[in-house]
Amino acid sequence: ESYQVIILAAGQGKRMKANFNKQFITIGSEPLLAHTIAVFEQDDWCDSIYLVNQPGDREMIESIVAEKQFSKVRKYVTGGKERQDSVRLGLEAVDPSKITMIHDGARPFVTEEELHRLHKATQNTGAAFLAVPVTDTIKQVDGGRVKTLKRSELFAAQTPQAFRYDLIHRAHEWAYNQGIQATDDVQLLELMEQSIELVEGSYRNMKLTTPEDIQRAENMLQINRQSIQE
Ligand code: CTP
Ligand code: MG
Repeated sequence: ESYQVIILAAGQGKRMKANFNKQFITIGSEPLLAHTIAVFEQDDWCDSIYLVNQPGDREMIESIVAEKQFSKVRKYVTGGKERQDSVRLGLEAVDPSKITMIHDGARPFVTEEELHRLHKATQNTGAAFLAVPVTDTIKQVDGGRVKTLKRSELFAAQTPQAFRYDLIHRAHEWAYNQGIQATDDVQLLELMEQSIELVEGSYRNMKLTTPEDIQRAENMLQINRQSIQE
């Protein structure tokens, strides 16, 4: 059981409105990105971590890695304009023989148990992702026409998403050459008609996107700490 992870931190965090990359906002007295890296550093199944970042953030990220003594960080990779570009560049830097997880730096609350279930699913199908059932009623609006989608069939996709390297590498090459843009990595495999396994995740695996998410993240950290102390 082993895998490598690409952690994406090369965005700008515009919606967070922090004046700096949201990966560095402090939650529970540490930078967001440090919480995310720590999950993988602590998971015995993870043997290498690749950090995708913008050049201007590199020094700050290296100092976090040094201070926290993260030992699995293998490379810093310069990201691209869109998330999909950052993933493609990350894929060029990793070991092509390993199961590869792709994870948002802005999701610090994924658990080891989830990572292990995801890894097992990937060994079966070659591609798997964490997702949760949607709780809202989702409407599809096309011009003036409103249609309610069947909630029991709807899931919100999270990260990590995990793949056999050759599958995801081929999908990104193909998308790049065809100029196809997707909003997550699994979508590229959908378009290639690959089979993909959904692994049920948790609502706690939130992505920090807007300022309102910070308080919720602080609360979740508190809860996690209390449950460790008990
Ligand atoms: N990401 C990346 N490269 C990009 C864009 C995004 O590595 N060109 C990363 C972000 O750093 C983040 C993850 O992809 O960890 C999910 O993206 P998102 O939540 O949209 O983060 P940002 O793009 O940074 O935020 P925003 O869209 O508000 O600017
Ligand atoms: Mg973004």
